[in-house]
Amino acid sequence: MPSLIQLVDIPQRGDARGGLAVADLGGALPFPVRRVYWIHGTTPGVSRGFHAHRKLRQLCVCVAGSVRMSLFDGRREESVTLDSPSKGLLVGPGLWREMHDFSPGCVLMVFADAEYDEADYIRDREAFIRHVHSS
Ligand code: TYD
Repeated sequence: MPSLIQLVDIPQRGDARGGLAVADLGGALPFPVRRVYWIHGTTPGVSRGFHAHRKLRQLCVCVAGSVRMSLFDGRREESVTLDSPSKGLLVGPGLWREMHDFSPGCVLMVFADAEYDEADYIRDREAFIRHVHSS
């Protein structure tokens, strides 16, 4: 059974001066990017997410600090700690995601293949489980 955790390498162009990670929007990412947002300044101790998307594809890159991301497909749950600007976590449709254990100074950058649409969200966990078991 394939892992829910799909990590992709973000091209690195750093040198002795420091890091430089590149997300070339001309096709280097796994999908055409329509939106980029970043989560930052997270209040200590909070968790976020607790939703799934019907169609949206996302790539999450922790560009500073660390965060633990948990994915649940309605049957099994897997989690991974993102702590590298050179790794992106692919989060496709039909995955319940939660973000926990944000470190101080964490910045989580998210690339998405569509504009924000609240109708694409499933925010109730029981409704999500019904959704995946009916599709
Ligand atoms: P949400 O995706 O629920 O955040 P998280 O999963 O990290 O807890 O978004 C939080 C709020 O921000 C919600 O009211 C929707 C709004 N929002 C936008 O308006 N545009 C966006 O691109 C995103 C990601 C969220």
